[in-house]
Amino acid sequence: MENSWTTREALASDAELIAVHACHRPEDEGRRAGYAEWLGPRIGSGRYLGLLATHEEVVVGGAGVVLLDWGPTRANPGGRMGRVANVFTAPAWRRQGIARSLLGRLLTHCEALGVHEFNLGTTPEARSLYRSLGFIDYAAEMRRRRG
Ligand SMILES: CC(C)(COP(=O)(O)OP(=O)(O)OC[C@H]1O[C@@H](n2cnc3c(N)ncnc32)[C@H](O)[C@@H]1OP(=O)(O)O)[C@@H](O)C(=O)NCCC(=O)NCCS
Repeated sequence: MENSWTTREALASDAELIAVHACHRPEDEGRRAGYAEWLGPRIGSGRYLGLLATHEEVVVGGAGVVLLDWGPTRANPGGRMGRVANVFTAPAWRRQGIARSLLGRLLTHCEALGVHEFNLGTTPEARSLYRSLGFIDYAAEMRRRRG
């Protein structure tokens, strides 16, 4: 199966499919419809940039970046922050470089658009992948959330 996948840009019509990646855990299934509803218009307007890996037109992996109006920082004077989201590869297709390839290409594309700072929330299994793409732990941040 290695290298038998190809890459295409995510379209607004892929929103439901990407929502399955976003909410892949069984306990998050109930959030898929709402996420898809949020996502579709943002793909259409360019505020979400996504790539999908396909095999015989079936999507086997995906990765995305939400462009956030963050404000200029030292590292990122343009002010748009890239929030990495929805990095997912179907279990049978893992460890073949799909996530690395999709995200690497997205980061390069965003850099070309002037986006020079990215953040993300990781899972333990994705941590070394993100490290290898230049992400570092960032201890200065805190978060307040409900629940
Ligand atoms: C995390 C996840 C996206 C990785 O997807 P993937 O397509 O398997 O990722 P890659 O193949 O690009 O890289 C994964 C590992 O496979 C290794 N790898 C890449 N090509 C390989 C190959 N041909 N043979 C063996 N290993 C390979 C990579 O070096 C990497 O190893 P590492 O984790 O030790 O750094 C996938 O496991 C997943 O969907 N998990 C569930 C959802 C999730 O956790 N997403 C992250 C949200 S933050």
